[in-house]
Amino acid sequence: MASSLYEDDDYELSAALDIGTTFSGYAYSFKGHERDIEGCKNWGANMSVSNHKTPTAVLVNKDGKLEAFGYEAQERYKSLEEDEIQMYSLYERFKMQLELTEKMNRDSLSMASDQSSLPLMDIFTMTIRYLKDHLLESVNKSHGRSVDSKKIRWVITVPAIWSDAAKQFMREAASKAGVRDINRPMQLIIALEPEVAGLYVVSKYQTRFVQTSRISKRETDAFRLGDEYVVMDCGGGTIDTTCYKIKSNQTLEQTYEATGNSFGGTKVDDAFVEFLSQIVGLDVVSTIRQESPVDWLQLMITFDHKKKTIQNKGSDRLNIEIPYCMHEIAWEVTERKLTDIVNNQRIPGVRCNKRMLTIDHDIIQDLFRKPVQGIVDHMRKLMRSPKLKNVSVILMVGGFSESPILQVAVKEAFGRKVKVLIPDDASMCVLYGAVAFGHNPNIVTSRIARMTYGDRICETYDPRKHGEGKRRVQVIDKIARQTKILGIYVKRGEAIKVGQVKEFTSVPASVSQTGIDHYLYCTEKSDVEYVDEEGVEQ
Ligand SMILES: Nc1ncnc2c1ncn2[C@@H]1O[C@H](COP(=O)(O)OP(=O)(O)OP(=O)(O)O)[C@@H](O)[C@H]1O
Ligand SMILES: [Mg+2]
Repeated sequence: MASSLYEDDDYELSAALDIGTTFSGYAYSFKGHERDIEGCKNWGANMSVSNHKTPTAVLVNKDGKLEAFGYEAQERYKSLEEDEIQMYSLYERFKMQLELTEKMNRDSLSMASDQSSLPLMDIFTMTIRYLKDHLLESVNKSHGRSVDSKKIRWVITVPAIWSDAAKQFMREAASKAGVRDINRPMQLIIALEPEVAGLYVVSKYQTRFVQTSRISKRETDAFRLGDEYVVMDCGGGTIDTTCYKIKSNQTLEQTYEATGNSFGGTKVDDAFVEFLSQIVGLDVVSTIRQESPVDWLQLMITFDHKKKTIQNKGSDRLNIEIPYCMHEIAWEVTERKLTDIVNNQRIPGVRCNKRMLTIDHDIIQDLFRKPVQGIVDHMRKLMRSPKLKNVSVILMVGGFSESPILQVAVKEAFGRKVKVLIPDDASMCVLYGAVAFGHNPNIVTSRIARMTYGDRICETYDPRKHGEGKRRVQVIDKIARQTKILGIYVKRGEAIKVGQVKEFTSVPASVSQTGIDHYLYCTEKSDVEYVDEEGVEQ
């Protein structure tokens, strides 16, 4: 029988936090004004940038306390004097440490740019607490009042491909950061990034259909009852895909399990670092990273800005300012001038002078090649699945989806068969969708299990059923029992309705047995018989 999980409607505010690999933010709206989504839209304003999200950067002092977050953390770090720099550490890209991790160690460490480390749990807790406090302050400022903490429904988004352990890790960090009342576990929803982003876009298109007639027929037709769509959330760290069917205005059904890989936008940054190592030498690059982390940070920020301007086609060259220390370090390490190291190689399309590294467009475009190919290959494999044969729309969300190179590649690969839609606020869809999901967490009525779950059981041994080669026999009360059988509760690929209850009966294996211990196991396999098979974990 299915019942909805979120029956408690006693809340006032839906508040969402999106902690991204590269950028983070928050958004919220009040019950009754669900579509009036607010949030900080001018992160970095005092550094003459104005963004809806801020870099996921945590500046920590030597006492392990948070000094600053986001643009402010980067700016403070960049302005540190040489004798101050040892007093602080900057943590970035730590979300990727949780990615795809099956077993989460609570004591895992996160590495800062200066190689110092702190528990990953502390870094996540600081991040969540910072965003939470900023959000509450924003509510206070814009509405002139605070909201009773019990009346806030918090939503924290995570990649759909994360393991249960990683999701649990996030839940614990949120509790430590004071995001939920210990007596109200349902106050915090861990939502799936592509799922909520998809919800937001679908509802936006449906509303536009009602509100305006200026939208083309092709667009308004994108989401009709019964339509099936794939959401691809291409962020900084991961690409994360899920598939849904529109059941009614109010409900969606997941039709295929979440899949993905780590070909996010930061893979382009990694390709740039590799390219730089080729043209100036690996020694020079690693020395700058170690000895001059501030200059390295500035170089990577510059590259990220430039990267966002890259078009699919063009003859423009890209000028990247070189930090002065790079010249000094090149000389120290190689006893050659940096300009000579680069220019004497005569690499077509690459020039270097005292201030700039100038790179031709096609070389930069080449840095996108592997990640873009990785994404397209993943999508190709996914779209080949017979379960996705009715998909009519691919929805591209996440910041990396704003790249014209990726957009063209996806359209070229799939545009003849399905509509490829890219909303104009692609990098904000996760956050806005999370707020909407907080108001209506029952909208997705069924999801597909990504793992097989079960209990360890035993049965009377039957050679025909259990097979001679698979004997795991133990004699209990003079009866041969086949042990270590995985009694499956949920099979990978199975559709599970939200709130669904399944009943299983356990009977004692012997007359003297007075209690039964339940050991839960999970595995990525869908065909599995025994708990001691490879890939099965307790
Ligand atoms: N126009 C653009 N062209 C190329 N890359 C872009 C563009 N806009 C944003 N990006 C890249 O997208 C990434 C940021 O996207 P987003 O904010 O969705 O990621 P995130 O939430 O930090 O990561 P994740 O969701 O994987 O944890 C960065 O790598 C950024 O450089
Ligand atoms: Mg994201």
